[in-house]
Amino acid sequence: MVVHSETSTGLTAPVAEIRAALDDTRHPALLLVDAISSLGIMRYEHDRWGADVTIACSQKGLMLPPGLGFNAISSRAQAISRKSARLARSYWAWQPILDANISGYFPYTPPISLLAGLRESLSLIKEETLPRVHARHAALAQLARETVRSWGLEIVGPGEPHSNALTAFRLPSDCDSEKVHLFLSEKHELSLGKGLGLFARGVLRIGHLGALDTGTLATGLARLRAGLTESDVLTAPVLPSAPTDDAAPPRPAPGGSRESAV
Ligand SMILES: Cc1ncc(COP(=O)(O)O)c(C=O)c1O
Repeated sequence: MVVHSETSTGLTAPVAEIRAALDDTRHPALLLVDAISSLGIMRYEHDRWGADVTIACSQKGLMLPPGLGFNAISSRAQAISRKSARLARSYWAWQPILDANISGYFPYTPPISLLAGLRESLSLIKEETLPRVHARHAALAQLARETVRSWGLEIVGPGEPHSNALTAFRLPSDCDSEKVHLFLSEKHELSLGKGLGLFARGVLRIGHLGALDTGTLATGLARLRAGLTESDVLTAPVLPSAPTDDAAPPRPAPGGSRESAV
């Protein structure tokens, strides 16, 4: 199983290359991919990349509350599930829903409100077009990464390819990341993700996905800059002092050239 966009670190896994490695060794394993934080954010190609099962959810690129899960299932995975899978299972028991879907129904109580929301999300994506949605997220991610780097902070991970859903960055080692996180939340109303697992200490995560534009992200980054400065993570920029009268450039004579007035 591979996580395409790692929401805990902001990195991506090369799904097509992992498929090729499985094929090269004639390994029989099914390739399961978690595309939860890439669907509707970054290019993801279930068929072309040779995934057997792709898992996605409603709460990231589809801009909905949590509650809907989606599986794309290759014919090989379906056949194995029907014929040879013997493990007791519930989430991976696809047959009831595959059967019901033929007539457009659900075998269980459908989450109607989320499905109504999904229709709206899909129409927003269709209107913008998927390539533009992907390009917008790529531009937002680039803005976030370049801004954080320009503050002298390190982005998590050895380099590209980073996920376009979020930017995970490290605080300097002497910072108490819990304290900084709380300060950003209480004083600047910024809801940043904390680091998870091995990255629990010293890492914060900026989410930049869904219905977001450059202006909104830039405003958030400006608040983040201010919050990190107030909590002594960053040093305040030195602002140029206002010119005094003595230092003011001489006024151009009336009728002087444009150049001399600049
Ligand atoms: C990559 C990824 N996988 C899985 C999940 C689902 O996590 P949870 O089990 O907390 O709903 C998330 C978060 O929504 C995620 O970002």
